[in-house]
Amino acid sequence: MKNSFIKDIAFYVPDEILTNDDLSKMMDTSDEWIKTRTGIEKRHTTGDTNMGPADLAVKASDQLLDKIGIDKSEIDFVVFATSTPDYYVPGSGALFQEKMGLENIGVLDIRQGCSGFTYALSVADKFIKTETYKNILVIGAEVQTTQLDYDDEGRGTAVLFGDGAAACLVAPTDEKRGILSAHLHSDGKYIDDLSSLYPSSKYKDIINEENIQKRQHHIYMNGREVFKHAVRRFKEVILEGLESNGLNVNDIDMVIPHQANFRITETVQKHLGVDQDKVFSNIHNYGNTTAASIGIALTEALDQKKIKKGDIVVLASFGAGFQWGSVVIKW
Ligand code: ACO
Repeated sequence: MKNSFIKDIAFYVPDEILTNDDLSKMMDTSDEWIKTRTGIEKRHTTGDTNMGPADLAVKASDQLLDKIGIDKSEIDFVVFATSTPDYYVPGSGALFQEKMGLENIGVLDIRQGCSGFTYALSVADKFIKTETYKNILVIGAEVQTTQLDYDDEGRGTAVLFGDGAAACLVAPTDEKRGILSAHLHSDGKYIDDLSSLYPSSKYKDIINEENIQKRQHHIYMNGREVFKHAVRRFKEVILEGLESNGLNVNDIDMVIPHQANFRITETVQKHLGVDQDKVFSNIHNYGNTTAASIGIALTEALDQKKIKKGDIVVLASFGAGFQWGSVVIKW
């Protein structure tokens, strides 16, 4: 059986920036409140460009293919993770395929919120290890800022999220390296603690004045409940991944957690008992880009030479569902 590895990774964020000060002109918030509670200083937004996740994903993928030096005709499968799809039906994968000009290959959409990237990598890993495909493009792409409630009532969530996309190529290798394991979990009990109810096929007449007034088409989050579960599950699933490979926390060279909130990342780092420089954070520049955040963080960690060949890298996610996961990689 072949091993699967991440050949390379790239990301794209739209040019327009929304700072905390910009937000404080739109709602009752402040740079100080946002920075202290979340670590976020700014986030990128598609603004008025009408760019969707598929557009951002094309930009990231073009960069990736240039970096690796392969032609798009060599891509034989796409796994596209987003929680903010361009269309309700079909998923963004099909639109991405059309925009990239990828000929009739299979595309699979993943809708696991902030855990989208770990789930997507896990799927790609299995297709490589079963020798089904050779070059799988794994995407995490998100446009959150068009859906947020930028006024006082929405301030609990609007300050958190940003837009962006990451793309990586997962391919086979004969070397003893690559994706060692993936562990995925879900607990649907907490679905109402972090969700966006509409659009939904459940009810008739959902788009009416009353529902719009109730703002149920915007994301709802019970921040404290999310925080509590996130710190527990991140640690648990990282340890689960390590143990399944006969490793322990001392073997970790780098953890790339989903960038939910700097305080979550900091708490996980302390609970794991690893050095601060072994848990990567770039949330101050991008906010929470949901399915894209791990890919953006991994790209920056590589660019900053914080990961070298042979390192043990743990990707870890937690988000809506609640759903969480880890992917352990020998780089
Ligand atoms: N600006 C100023 N004040 C605000 C804002 C804001 N943007 N948002 C809420 N407040 C106010 C509240 O109204 C409340 O005021 P009150 O005391 O007068 O009622 C006060 O601040 C405290 O509100 P809390 O919600 O209790 O604030 P908390 O300390 O819990 O911080 C936060 C909120 C940052 C969301 C926190 O709960 C948290 O970190 N949760 C984790 C969830 C998370 O990070 N999710 C990211 C997305 S999901 C994911 O990726 C896993």
